[in-house]
Amino acid sequence: MEDRAIGIFDSGIGGLTVLKEIMRILPNENIIYCADTANTPYGNKSKQKLLNLSRQIVKFLIAQNVKLIVIACNTVSSNCFYELQKEFDTPIIEVLTNGLNAGIKATQNKFIGIIGTEATLQNHACEKFIAKKNNNVKVFTKACPLFVPLAEEDWTNNKISYEAAKTYLNEFKKTQIDTLILSCTHYPLFMNNIKKILPTVKIIDPAKFTAIKVQKYLMNHKIFRHKNNPNIIFYTSDNPKKFRHMCNKILKKNYPPQNFKQKNF
Ligand code: DGL
Repeated sequence: MEDRAIGIFDSGIGGLTVLKEIMRILPNENIIYCADTANTPYGNKSKQKLLNLSRQIVKFLIAQNVKLIVIACNTVSSNCFYELQKEFDTPIIEVLTNGLNAGIKATQNKFIGIIGTEATLQNHACEKFIAKKNNNVKVFTKACPLFVPLAEEDWTNNKISYEAAKTYLNEFKKTQIDTLILSCTHYPLFMNNIKKILPTVKIIDPAKFTAIKVQKYLMNHKIFRHKNNPNIIFYTSDNPKKFRHMCNKILKKNYPPQNFKQKNF
């Protein structure tokens, strides 16, 4: 069991922010990462479309005999988690509520901002989740749809990304938020700009909290992998070469081309 891989997926490079944290605290785990780059962005898609796409990826990961699946995509977490969990027996951990819980813990004045994709925010799952945990918290949300294509283009640290971030985030200056949750796994790639624009606000990246949840799961089920030299394989549904470049940059690794495979989901 312990040698079986952890399956992780997202629409593209965003989930690598989660993978990076998982690799940091669980460096021996075999990993299969799926990026549905042919269908990026997920953030403008309907629930039905997201269900069809994520179901294909989950089926593929199960066919690879993974021991655990991590939905490193807030859009899929928000729209499809309960359905996927009901439909499949393989354990699934999602990223969204880990960020929301961390935000609830972090806020002191009970004013929280959440940024995510339109599809993550459209069903008000975030507000409902937070209200159930603490109904004194006031939530402000904002979709930032340009962040995903900018990140996929490797434009996270230039003038254009700064202007986009400023336009999206300036709105929060009219609120009293002391905490901002990055409820899209692509958004931590803009951390420098976000911190510049909202310097006094606590920024929550759900990746770390999701990785801790994965670690606890493996610990409780005694399925840690103890051997060295883990196998890390990436499947993308389009252009593995471009993905490899971004992947090695974000993870600060030099994975060879044979670690990157093409697969239509
Ligand atoms: N990174 C994903 C998320 O966390 C998907 C973004 C997209 O493809 O629009 O929501």
